[in-house]
This record gives sequence, structure tokens and C-alpha cells, in this order.
Amino acid sequence: MNKRKYLYGAAILVFLASFIGMLIYGYKTFYIEKELAASKEYRYHFALIAEETDNEYWRLIEEGARKEAAKQNVYLEYVAPQRADNDELLKLFDRMIAAKVDGIIVQGIEGRRFVDLVHKATERSIPVVTVDTDVKSSERKAYVGTDNHHAGELAGKSILENTEGEQFVGIVTGRFDAINQQERIAGLKHILEGNPRIQIVGVKESGITEIGATQATYSLLKEYPQITALVGTSALDGIGMVEGLEEIAPDKDVYITAFDLIPETLDAIEEGKIQATIAQFPEEMGKESVTSLLQLQEKDLLDNLIYTETGIIDKENLPALREGQP
Ligand code: BGC
Repeated sequence: MNKRKYLYGAAILVFLASFIGMLIYGYKTFYIEKELAASKEYRYHFALIAEETDNEYWRLIEEGARKEAAKQNVYLEYVAPQRADNDELLKLFDRMIAAKVDGIIVQGIEGRRFVDLVHKATERSIPVVTVDTDVKSSERKAYVGTDNHHAGELAGKSILENTEGEQFVGIVTGRFDAINQQERIAGLKHILEGNPRIQIVGVKESGITEIGATQATYSLLKEYPQITALVGTSALDGIGMVEGLEEIAPDKDVYITAFDLIPETLDAIEEGKIQATIAQFPEEMGKESVTSLLQLQEKDLLDNLIYTETGIIDKENLPALREGQP
């Protein structure tokens, strides 16, 4: 009798174990199939290659691109070097071409290798759209982003119109080897150079980090103590410059022009620490580049220079901008 009980018990245990196993593994199989089925439903696979992974500005481009991709049933892959690095970015670009994605959105990089990679992608029928920074000499199908020369001119205008008397200008720029930074500086010089009351005294690099901008400001002010105006040409330069100024010359009256609408910069405008910033619309860039790549799946674009808005934001028009924000 006991032996039979024991056998029944063992049988029930075996049954329970296989039942539980079936639930777990059966679910897993089902789950994987469901995932595969879902990925098969995407219409296209696009890659967005950013300047660096966790940069606030690039995350906004990603956000805009992701929202549009989700609406259009496109799978969007966001890749970037950990820290801004042209070589790394070019490697990622090559890898995305090898992965045979349906389209690539990428920051334009200076030099032959970028042009060659765009050519390689084009030969394999992968359309390339440059975002944020253009390389006009490449076979990219479109550029989506700010007119960077014009944006630099706006920064120059903001200094011209809001300062009086002799001005000594120091520039903090993101990276010397970034085309958009070079174009912004060229635009700035176009407006300021030749004006008898204004002199550009020096340019230093921030490496597109806040701490880098603080250090750049520090050394600019040490080298050129006569500075009366500072311009930052990338997103974190403004707040970095404020830090630098507070450290080295807190009582000095310096007219500061920043770039971009990151919240810290807008707060600094409200507090009177930054006088103006040049607006860019990175979310719009993300959205428009996905839209362009989608259109490019059918045919080439007639209008391939898609400039997003720019403008000067200061204490006066900041409230209106904030109200416009969700
Ligand atoms: C530029 C980007 C850059 C970012 C850095 C922006 O103003 O358009 O190219 O990556 O600043 O934070």
C-alpha cells in the first residue's frame, strides 16, 4: 500500500514538474515568436548616428526621431560614440552600412572618409541624410538642421545690437574639427569683423562639455583680461562660461551669448547671467530626418536642404517661448 502511495506521489511530482516546465518554456517560445512577429511588422530599419551618446542636445534629436519613427512604424536604432570622436563615429557609420539598414541619419563629419562612406552607402542604395551638420560635397540625399552660418550671424547681431562702445570678444567653441562649429564662427566673424568698435580676441575649445567650457573661459579671461563679451557656439558652452566667469571674475560685466535652448541656459537668461541664446530645434530635426528618409524610400527629394528654425532668445521673448512649450 505504502509503495503505491509512493508511486502516486512520484507521478504527481513528475506531472507537476513537466506542467510547470511547459508553462515556462512554452511561454518563452511563444514570447520569442511574438517578438519576431512584431519586428517583422516594421516597415523599415533606420539608424541615427549621433555625435555622442548622452549629450542632452542629441537626446532631443533622438526623441523627435523616435516619436516619428513610432508613428510611421519604423524601427529606429540610435548609436553614437561614448564621447565625441570623429573616428569612432565613422566606424559606426561603416557598421550601419554593413548592417544593410534602410536609411542612415548622421552628423556630417569633415574629411574624405565621410564622403567615401556616403558614396559606399549610396552605391548600396542606402539613402543618407545629414543632421545638425552638413557636408555639402558628399552624396547625402538631404540635410536637416540649422543653417549654421546664419546662426553664427545671429550671435554676432545679438552682440552688435545690445552692446555699446569698444567690445573684446572671446569665443568658446565645441570642437575645432566640427564643421557646424566652424560655420557658426565664420557667420559670427562675418557680422563682427570690420566693425571698428569690435575685436575678436581669442577662440578656445570646450570639447562640447560644460567643464570644458568652464576651463576654456578661465583661460580666455586669463589671457585676455580685456574681454567684454563671450560667445559659446555649442549647447553646453553657455552654462560652462557662466561657471568660468563666476570663478575667475564674478564682478565683471560680460555680455554672454549662448547656443541652444537647454533648460539650464534658459534659467540663466532669466537670472540675467546669460543675455541671449541662439535657438535650435533638435526635436524637429529628428522628426524631419525620419520623414525625409521615408520619402527617400520612394524617390529622391526635390528640396534637399531642410533648414529648421533659428532665432535669438533673450529675457524679453523668453516668456513667450516658454508658453509655447508643452
Ligand atoms: C550643436 C551640436 C553639438 C551640441 C553639443 C549643439 O549646439 O549643434 O553639434 O553636438 O551643441 O552639446
